[in-house]
Amino acid sequence: MKKTHKNIQIWYKAYGRLELPWRTTTNPYHIYLSEVMLQQTQVKTVLERYYFPFLKKFPTLKALGESPLDDVLKMWEGLGYYNRAKNLHKTAELLTQQGQTRGVAPTLPSKLEELIKLPGIGKNTAHAVATFAYKKSVPIMEANVKRILCRLNKLETPTDKELWKIAYELVDKENPFDYNQAMMDIGATLCIPKNPDCEACPLSDICQGQNDPTLYPAKKKRIVPTREQNIILYVYNNKLSLTQRKGKFLHGLWGFAHTEVPLCASEYIGDVTHAYTHFKLICKVYVYDEIDAEQNNYFTSKEIRKLAISKVDDKILKLYLDTIQAY
Ligand code: ADE
Repeated sequence: MKKTHKNIQIWYKAYGRLELPWRTTTNPYHIYLSEVMLQQTQVKTVLERYYFPFLKKFPTLKALGESPLDDVLKMWEGLGYYNRAKNLHKTAELLTQQGQTRGVAPTLPSKLEELIKLPGIGKNTAHAVATFAYKKSVPIMEANVKRILCRLNKLETPTDKELWKIAYELVDKENPFDYNQAMMDIGATLCIPKNPDCEACPLSDICQGQNDPTLYPAKKKRIVPTREQNIILYVYNNKLSLTQRKGKFLHGLWGFAHTEVPLCASEYIGDVTHAYTHFKLICKVYVYDEIDAEQNNYFTSKEIRKLAISKVDDKILKLYLDTIQAY
């Protein structure tokens, strides 16, 4: 394994994304934030649009923990999977309170068993914080790494338990930080789903799957259901009605009303679609431009920009603004 570890280190120094800002810091909060953002979002998006503005607004865990959730959701707007933001905020609140009780500045714990108890911190995020912030000799296991491990061992449908076992056996205990970052980069640039570049791979000496890498892991056939929704845009005095969502889905974000049956006097203006992980959403959008007794929060489009709204509602707003401009 020593030789493979050395190959990985050499490859990482030459081709790794060494300059990513969460790789040039040891600040546990910065690392934790990056890991949460990167759970379901590409590096490019996080880097170009979200990571720095978020840290500017909430420079410390304490600042985050003492801020209202609405402000956090606003900074998360467009990133999706808003539970991530809510859990991040909850964790910051919890650690800030604990810090106050102990009279110390809040920080993330370094032990896996403590990290994993915090809201929204799963096994992989706990491992990532432990290794990247605290240099612990533990592996990580995001999607790219999973693919590498499957190919190394010709595994089509392994369980997470099997993968973690292999990951623990393979981790470079002397250099876990670079090893783990390198594994993600190898998975993102060489050991990619289609047409992997096995010749350039520093793990090729030990890879059993390189004759037919794309067989591992076996592709999951996923059928995503479609859901349809009617959206009513209540318009009054050039203002639109939005309410703050209370249900489980998109809780805390502001959004437009939906309805079972479109109101008679409403006008259909078009469809908006959005692909979530588990379903595809089609929104049929209707405009109702008479005052409605039940709507009591009307906003101008400028005011709406200050609220945290979901991507779908943003698309709906754009459709509406394009439609009225066309008249
Ligand atoms: N995805 C999750 N963690 C990451 C990291 N540290 N660098 C790049 N991509 C990642």
